[in-house]
Amino acid sequence: MQEDIKIQKEYINKVQKINEGKNLKYIVYTMGCQLNENDSEKISGMLEQMGYSKTEKIEEANIIAFNTCCVRENAEDKLFGKLGEVKKYKESKGTIIAIGGCMMQEKHIVEKLKKSYPYFDVVFGPHTLHKLPEDIYKAIINKQRIEDILDIDGEVIEGLPIKREDKYKASVAIMNGCNNFCTYCIVPYVRGRERSRKAEDIIAEIKCLANKGYKEITLLGQNVNSYMRSERENGKETGEINSFAKLLKEINKIEGIERIRFISPHPKDFTDDVIQAIKESEKICKIIHLPLQSGSSNILKAMNRKYTKEQYLELVSKIKENIPNVVFSTDIIVGFPGETEQDFVDTLDVVKKVNFEQIFMFIYSRRVGTPADKMENQIPEEIKHERFNRLKELADSQVEQNNKKYINTEQKILVEGKSKTNENMLTGRTDTNKVVNFEGTSDLIGKIINVKIIKDHIWYLEGIAK
Ligand code: SAH
Ligand code: SF4
Ligand code: F3S
Repeated sequence: MQEDIKIQKEYINKVQKINEGKNLKYIVYTMGCQLNENDSEKISGMLEQMGYSKTEKIEEANIIAFNTCCVRENAEDKLFGKLGEVKKYKESKGTIIAIGGCMMQEKHIVEKLKKSYPYFDVVFGPHTLHKLPEDIYKAIINKQRIEDILDIDGEVIEGLPIKREDKYKASVAIMNGCNNFCTYCIVPYVRGRERSRKAEDIIAEIKCLANKGYKEITLLGQNVNSYMRSERENGKETGEINSFAKLLKEINKIEGIERIRFISPHPKDFTDDVIQAIKESEKICKIIHLPLQSGSSNILKAMNRKYTKEQYLELVSKIKENIPNVVFSTDIIVGFPGETEQDFVDTLDVVKKVNFEQIFMFIYSRRVGTPADKMENQIPEEIKHERFNRLKELADSQVEQNNKKYINTEQKILVEGKSKTNENMLTGRTDTNKVVNFEGTSDLIGKIINVKIIKDHIWYLEGIAK
């Protein structure tokens, strides 16, 4: 597979020669999760080396790349809307249209594209991302439509070019795929089975980021805490750092990196060694994203989450006992098939007990090919919405109360840049991922500084630099 990268570098050079002196531009639409964003940074990296430069204006682009998501229906709708819009550019100036991402792993979607949007040039999936240079070259030279989708899991590919969006915080994929098959979720079907990157490659990438001045790293994976698990179980070569806990401790040692985050861990795999590693590693942010999905043991069973309400709460208590001042964020789905009023009340109960810092709430969305889609007791839309609104009300009131706790405290803020709405203000985040705006000069950007919090708003806090 690493051989493939050499071949792709040759294609990059070939396209770059064709493009030389033409001042060509690209735009990438990212439609999914942080792993999808990370893939988009790799798409941008490859396109830049092929001689395209980035534009924000779609009408200027010579190549338009879509990085799609299919986790919920509304993510899918985004693509079709946008494809309608780009047809005129294809017709008027021959803009290259490349569509990638998880949605392309769904056969019915690619069929729909061919039937209703036949003007695309390339479709590629997460397993063939690294072959984009070859696909684009062939689309340019042969003027033919390229379908490059693999049904088998792609191997871990190292060494792709990457153009990062931020200067001080970066995401680093540590593993890909999922073996859990939660009954509502399409991800295991489109991303394949779990496979982890070698620790030495991950650490080398993070050291390189630290040398470039990056301060914050977010480790990414569908199940970060099963890092190297399937390799261990299948007797594959793992190297010495063969668990998530060990990886965290190694990354904590990297000089220059000041903050480490990770998403998402699975509650069922949150072992004691991981809790211990978080406790011991001063750079790991003391906010843990712990997806709940539902607070009802019945629904959790139907979701195939492999923990009960009580086990989730026990885990939270154990983490709170071990790690002083830890806070939590979570994902919750409302309206899963068969969810009764009592099940939903159980979810509200867990939310009250844990007091999450942030909740990502989703209305259950039927996904073709998943077991939950075939369940008979689907919940009517109006009930789903009513429950969503009730959950949102509770979540908002918790955020409001939690924000008040910050007032008059001093927080360490990684300054990310100027505020988008006010030139004189800087913006950054606390260790717990709260946005803080404060007055300051641009020499503070990229540094971690102390800020006293003076006022709370629902979406951000206001402070004074110390
Ligand atoms: N691997 C991660 C999350 C992957 S998807 C994890 O297990 O936590 C991100 C979130 O989307 C999930 O946590 C879940 O809350 C939500 N989600 C996934 N499938 C969904 C569906 N069919 N309908 C609504 N929300 C869904
Ligand atoms: Fe989907 Fe469950 Fe895997 Fe997360 S753990 S990606 S929700 S199947
Ligand atoms: Fe979407 Fe794929 Fe991420 S389905 S949520 S982009 S893994």
